[in-house]
Amino acid sequence: MENVVSALDIQDDVFFNHLREQEYNRLDESKHAYLDYTGGNLYAISQIEKHLKLLNSEVLGNPHSTNPTSLKATHLVEEAREKVLSFFNAHDYYCVFTQNASASLKIIGESYPFGTNGALVLLADNHNSVNGIREYCNGKGGKTTYVPVQYEDLEINSRILIKSLEDASKFENKLFAFPAQSNVSGVKHDLKWVEYAQNKGFDVLLDAAAYVPSSKLDLSKIHPDFVSISFYKIFGYPTGIGCLLIRKSAFHKLQKPWFAGGTVTLVSVATQNKFLANGHERFEDGTINYLNIPAVKIGLDYIESIGIERISKRVRSLIEFVTTELQKLHHENGKPIVKIFGPKDFNHRGGNIIMNFFDVEGHAFPFEEIEKHTNKQMISIRSGCFCNPGIDEINNCLTTDELATYFVSRDNGNYYDMIAFLGKMRGATRLSVGIATTQNDLVRFIEFVQGLKNKTIQEFSQIN
Ligand SMILES: Cc1ncc(COP(=O)(O)O)c(C=O)c1O
Repeated sequence: MENVVSALDIQDDVFFNHLREQEYNRLDESKHAYLDYTGGNLYAISQIEKHLKLLNSEVLGNPHSTNPTSLKATHLVEEAREKVLSFFNAHDYYCVFTQNASASLKIIGESYPFGTNGALVLLADNHNSVNGIREYCNGKGGKTTYVPVQYEDLEINSRILIKSLEDASKFENKLFAFPAQSNVSGVKHDLKWVEYAQNKGFDVLLDAAAYVPSSKLDLSKIHPDFVSISFYKIFGYPTGIGCLLIRKSAFHKLQKPWFAGGTVTLVSVATQNKFLANGHERFEDGTINYLNIPAVKIGLDYIESIGIERISKRVRSLIEFVTTELQKLHHENGKPIVKIFGPKDFNHRGGNIIMNFFDVEGHAFPFEEIEKHTNKQMISIRSGCFCNPGIDEINNCLTTDELATYFVSRDNGNYYDMIAFLGKMRGATRLSVGIATTQNDLVRFIEFVQGLKNKTIQEFSQIN
């Protein structure tokens, strides 16, 4: 097997292997091959130590007050907010702290002025937390349109996108939503569509949750109106904090449907009047996670100390290595063992890939079977549909008619019920790499896949 390091990045390999020993030693101590970074990143031990030191040394009270402990907490929260804005070069944005990317997306869903003159255009390759926004749009009488990705490479179908944006341009309030990187296929979608849609009068929601852990998002260069992010996906700790970045020029487009503690400057009970706060406070309902938000700054400082460009380069070389090695694997009869979905060009891929596995007779392994065996070997990968049904429907060639027939045939259902009804496969296996991945983690996975060689599904299950 070729070594992952080319002559050019030996230094990087030494650097990241050393980082693994220093910061992520628990992986090797417990013999884990962790390959689910798109699910959640891993924290460095130094992040925890710094946060613990802060909590041990400070007395922090609920912000929104002027007492000394409250002021200290406010100061730390505002420092973290400034850090987020500078990390993304987001100087003309507000940073709203939320619980996670899904909560950020829900704010857009409930506050965007859909209505009978409203439209939502979204890519078929979206996480369900973006897909869910259609319920608000449709519920208020707006029109939702999906734009497909191409079967061959899972990239945006430009022709249909252009047409869909054109068709919806007559609506007054129109939102275009797409992910900067697919959480399933790892495709990095072309960010030029942000400006293109804006020029057609759309507001643009860029879901950056899967993109920012291994790519630089520079909001001084592209200017989506809204950006959703979860911090545990970038640096592992803390969980439970995300943010919504709102471009200042788009702030007043959002109509918050209610108010809560911390989001108003004045409320009257007698007259039922209120004034909403301006800026990030408007969308931060109640008490923010003020003990953990300071750890966001610690996390971003940590990532900056390594360099997001360096992480990006490393992730790319790891994905290139594992993809190339897996694609070399064949049964003796010449049939491939693995099918990897998505584009061939590594510049269009981020840190995750999806694939299916085939036995010697060409039958697809159920993804559960694969996961059952990788679990036994302490390899953490992910399988299923990854909360992104659009990609799965395309990869498994499910037609609109078939899906419609299934949904009208029952009031309730699930994944397995649908497989039985349609007689078609669903789901895939996802592998994702990140800051702490080493070549050895990937070799363990590749060796597992080599174990499928020349076997039928039954033979493989019996031996293992
Ligand atoms: C692209 C994308 N968007 C949104 C989400 C939702 O993130 P969270 O579960 O942190 O709210 C995820 C999570 O995997 C994601 O990958």
